Amino acid sequence: MRRLRVGILISGRGSNLQALIDAVADPAYPAEIAIVISNRVDAAGLARAEAAGIPHHVVADPDRTAFATATDRILRETGVELVVLAGFMRILDTGFVEAWANQMVNIHPSLLPTFPGLHPQRQALAAGVKFSGCTVHFVRPAVDTGPIIAQAVVPVEDGDNEDSLAARILAAEHRLYPLAVRLIAEGRLRIDGNRVLVAGAATPDITALSPTENLASAGR
Ligand code: GRF
Repeated sequence: MRRLRVGILISGRGSNLQALIDAVADPAYPAEIAIVISNRVDAAGLARAEAAGIPHHVVADPDRTAFATATDRILRETGVELVVLAGFMRILDTGFVEAWANQMVNIHPSLLPTFPGLHPQRQALAAGVKFSGCTVHFVRPAVDTGPIIAQAVVPVEDGDNEDSLAARILAAEHRLYPLAVRLIAEGRLRIDGNRVLVAGAATPDITALSPTENLASAGR
């Protein structure tokens, strides 16, 4: 089986990187991680790449164009076919984004297009939504936009603060990102305007209520 060559860009902790490292450990998974690039020398995710024996680089150039040029060169020299942003916290040069259009994905901890940008969990709590979640999408020049590949929904609980909601969403991210990358690697996606159509996808059971009625205590 030919495996899609993936390059992963990180800035920090790298727990989504770890989820992908764990996924590609299965020989039946249709993608491999060819390289990890961090824009920060102190990113904890670099140690995860090291431990997994994955080549990794730090590109810390403060100039946006220079960063894009250096990163693009490494990705192309490595034969990368898909760029995966995993907690990558730097705005990318527009030319870079356009060059990798439909070959670059991002994960964001909200149900886009709601709560783009910084602190999406704080935004969700402030808005009072009963559900939030995470989104994997193709990357377009405007931050946190682009055709949506996959989403996972999690409930917002009454006792939640930003940290507890972030942790619940993060657990969903770790399931969603390997799934989305697999769909791409299997060639199952077709982009139609803003929509991403997934060949062979089953319709999920999407019914969710919050709060769920407790019929017994309601005295019925
Ligand atoms: C994740 O919540 C991701 O959605 C967001 O940044 C966080 C990165 O976490 N873009 P990690 O570095 O993958 O642990």
